[in-house]
Amino acid sequence: MKSNPASALKFPATRLRRLRTDDFTRRLVREHTLNVNDLIQPVFVIEGQNKSETVDSMPGVERMTIDRLVVFAEQIAELGIPAIAIFPVIPLETKTPEATEAWNPEGLAQRAVRAVKARVPDLGVITDVALDPFTSHGQDGLLDEHGYVANDITLDALVRQARSHAEAGVDILAPSDMMDGRIAAIRQALEADQQPNVRIMAYSAKYASAFYGPFRDAVGSASNLGGGDKRTYQMDPGNAMEALREVGMDIAEGADMVMIKPGMPYLDIITRVREQFQMPTFAYQVSGEYAMLNAAFANGWLDRRQCVLESLLSFKRAGADGILTYFAQDVAGWLKEN
Ligand code: PBG
Repeated sequence: MKSNPASALKFPATRLRRLRTDDFTRRLVREHTLNVNDLIQPVFVIEGQNKSETVDSMPGVERMTIDRLVVFAEQIAELGIPAIAIFPVIPLETKTPEATEAWNPEGLAQRAVRAVKARVPDLGVITDVALDPFTSHGQDGLLDEHGYVANDITLDALVRQARSHAEAGVDILAPSDMMDGRIAAIRQALEADQQPNVRIMAYSAKYASAFYGPFRDAVGSASNLGGGDKRTYQMDPGNAMEALREVGMDIAEGADMVMIKPGMPYLDIITRVREQFQMPTFAYQVSGEYAMLNAAFANGWLDRRQCVLESLLSFKRAGADGILTYFAQDVAGWLKEN
């Protein structure tokens, strides 16, 4: 009689479940954990005094005036979150085709940076470098006579914007515009201005994603953009190799940190970038991801705390060193309780 080797095995040779027996063992062998130092809190800032506004598609997120922003920044620092990312909401009447407000030394972003750095100097401040909040057409760059987003004239505008943020005291510039050559142009300008320590976190692999919808509502650029899209500069969601070329180019041009955006639908890109470049790699859990999760929480379909923590842990497992997330403040609070 021939014996079947599988059925001859009386016991499983390996019991992977052994290490899942109890909480202490699970904690001992856990490969990845989420820490408060992994978090970056994005914030929307508006003109005015002592005012906040809700954002319909982003429940729990508020646009706030600078006086409230500094109080919020203090709370964020108190929780141990290393940095905030500031996004200005620019009044319609200030938007122009040339986006000149972007480099106004007294602009909303520049004033917000100064106010936060004055009140909470140890909190890292990040600003977005891109023209979309300032253009009347809602594109991230300047248009040529055919309505195409023109790369090289946009670079000059981005450099002006970046210099004005550095002048205001920003710690980290985050170019999110996806023009070719912008990291080099900004880095050269910073060096020329004797700002060698301003860090650049490049939105290197930023996809033309439908998950940015709620953000465009929050900053009010959706109506300016109209039916337009950003596919001539943001990446095609079908591409992965190209993301590696984008990242490589930004690093060669002087980026200190790179970012992948959106987050959860692009975890494969995070892993590949981290493995290939071994650079500080960040992920942006974008507004649409936030909205999607919140819609399920509001319906009682998903558990808020557990799903938020699991979603952020998945970024760490994929290889991210940090995550921009609208949940940062809540998460920092939960991590403190644990
Ligand atoms: C602007 C910018 C966008 C986001 C960050 N910076 C929107 C866009 O490119 O249209 C999206 C952030 C989010 O969806 O949470 N260039």
